[in-house]
Amino acid sequence: MLTLYRNARLCTLAGKQGWGLIDDGALLVRGQTLHWVGPTADIPTDAPITAEHDLHGALVTPGLVDCHTHLVYGGQRADEFEQRLQGASYEDIARAGGGIRATVRATRAASAAQLFADAHNRALTLLRNGVTTVEIKSGYGLSLEHEARCLRVARQLGAELPLTVRATCLSAHTLPPEFEGRADDYIDAVCAWLPQLQAEGLMDAVDAFCERIAFTPAQTRRVFDAARALGLPVKLHAEQLSDQGGAELAASYGALSCDHLEYLSAQGIAAMRRAGSVAVLLPGAFYFLRETRLPPVAALREAGVPMALATDHNPGSSPTLSPLLMLNMACTLFRLTPEEALRGFTVNGARALGLHDRGQLVAQQRADFVAWPLGHPNTLSYWLGQHPNCRVFIGGKEV
Ligand code: NIG
Ligand code: FE
Repeated sequence: MLTLYRNARLCTLAGKQGWGLIDDGALLVRGQTLHWVGPTADIPTDAPITAEHDLHGALVTPGLVDCHTHLVYGGQRADEFEQRLQGASYEDIARAGGGIRATVRATRAASAAQLFADAHNRALTLLRNGVTTVEIKSGYGLSLEHEARCLRVARQLGAELPLTVRATCLSAHTLPPEFEGRADDYIDAVCAWLPQLQAEGLMDAVDAFCERIAFTPAQTRRVFDAARALGLPVKLHAEQLSDQGGAELAASYGALSCDHLEYLSAQGIAAMRRAGSVAVLLPGAFYFLRETRLPPVAALREAGVPMALATDHNPGSSPTLSPLLMLNMACTLFRLTPEEALRGFTVNGARALGLHDRGQLVAQQRADFVAWPLGHPNTLSYWLGQHPNCRVFIGGKEV
């Protein structure tokens, strides 16, 4: 039972570099998997094709993987955006009790139904923009009850929407007010929550924010030890506002990824290369916080550290749901090539989640793909924030 999709311009991203273009291409899908990918002229003649679809010459790429989002939260922070435009810094606002803590208040005050409805809308918007796999972090609950509630929303989204949802526990996002002055006690609490969240099957990975306004390397290490004891992979918000040596620390735990990385050092790059950690670059946050320090893209490229891209959707530093805008910003702000940007939002995004079954259009990968009304894949990073009007296929079915 094979379904044929024909008349496509395929951008397979097969291999380690190049677009992998097949001008007059076709896909054969069996169940949720790509069975065969190649030029129309080579479609296997003995294949038992039971259904056939014409893609009318569309550009077909792997489905987009948004490997870093904070999709579940209450409220918004437009007032802080205005304060920052008037000169307040992100760190000033955080120290004054705003920032992540403002969203924690709004998230705790929201009903579970409201949290779900808002996150559902956001996930649907990502889906309509070509995203077929999304990672969702907790980190705006900061109590066992509220962290579990946010992670359950992520799990429920995965159950109700066709896209794949990976849930990451980011309870070590910032210090909640009830633990003021007692950061080590809060870390003890987080370490005690993890087995309970794990028993309910609520997490695929554990993340932390290692920063002056969040947690120290020593505190981050304790969270990672607790994750490791449960067999959970780790990721880290590292080197976003200062160099804390977070990437080296995360790499020593075999981190799936280190994310942000504006202040990443040469030692951090070397450690990530040895550990095989992915560098997740977040141009939306860089832009929205009006950062000036660029992540060391040329050195990462030189070292062969895989670079991924994501929206980092959240209400404080990156209120965007446009993957294509991130592709553009990665090129204009970070100097990625259009091909590196697309690989960052597909195959390398998948690697940042520990997923090796998606991100390229090759046989045996998941049949997650997007048909765009565009001619060449370099136009994906060219149209600036325009709605892509794409058709999205997940597990072989149009959604
Ligand atoms: O990825 N850096 C820390 N966490 C988020 C922002 C959180 C917020 O400001 O609400 C980020 O940028
Ligand atoms: Fe983030």
